Amino acid sequence: MKGHWDIRYSETEGVYGKLPSPFWVQELSKCSGHLALLPCEGEGRNAVLAAQKGWNVDAVDSSAVGMATCARWSKEAGVGKLVKTYVADALDFEGASDGYDVVGLFYAHMPNDIRQLFHRKAMSWLKPGGKIILEGFNSRQLTLHSGGPKDATMLFNIAQLESDFQGLVMEQMETVQTTLDEGPFHQGKAEIIRMVGTAPQL
Ligand SMILES: C[S@@+](CC[C@H](N)C(=O)[O-])C[C@H]1O[C@@H](n2cnc3c(N)ncnc32)[C@H](O)[C@@H]1O
Repeated sequence: MKGHWDIRYSETEGVYGKLPSPFWVQELSKCSGHLALLPCEGEGRNAVLAAQKGWNVDAVDSSAVGMATCARWSKEAGVGKLVKTYVADALDFEGASDGYDVVGLFYAHMPNDIRQLFHRKAMSWLKPGGKIILEGFNSRQLTLHSGGPKDATMLFNIAQLESDFQGLVMEQMETVQTTLDEGPFHQGKAEIIRMVGTAPQL
């Protein structure tokens, strides 16, 4: 039986658009290294961009339909060899044994009871000096209609992310009012959080 995300990605291609998140484009350009991880990557909009910039990318999502689209978009963009797709629960994904230079968490909202575990897992994927780049909806998004979970406990706030990502050196942590134009499911005025944190060098 197909799950929620498989159905959504089967019904519409480019649910969050085909273009990458502008914040990912901006922040990835400041990163050094060669290996990026995108858990909860959906259809691959950010994976394709990273590969086009020369990164080797591991893309993970529990939706087989999303990952099939990611593989196809990567191939069509001529970067199929740089993008590996994994259909897996992100909490079970081990990843590269030496870790990643950058981990991108884009709209990776989890149920409250596993969010902290997932964020700890995200930190465990980093090499020393590696970065987490995160964008997602903040709690004020609940009254808006531009996307995101309708369960308030799945939305982010700064105090919670600061606690979840203790151990990273925070370079950026801010709530932002913006207007999303990312496919049919992220459209309009939105309340988001943007975070960049770096794992300490050993
Ligand atoms: C809102 S979409 C965001 C997709 C993508 N990051 C983007 O911004 O275009 C959330 C994605 O998280 C995936 N997801 C949710 N929980 C997951 C889990 N535990 N393991 C792997 N993927 C998960 C869903 O399948 C879905 O593709």
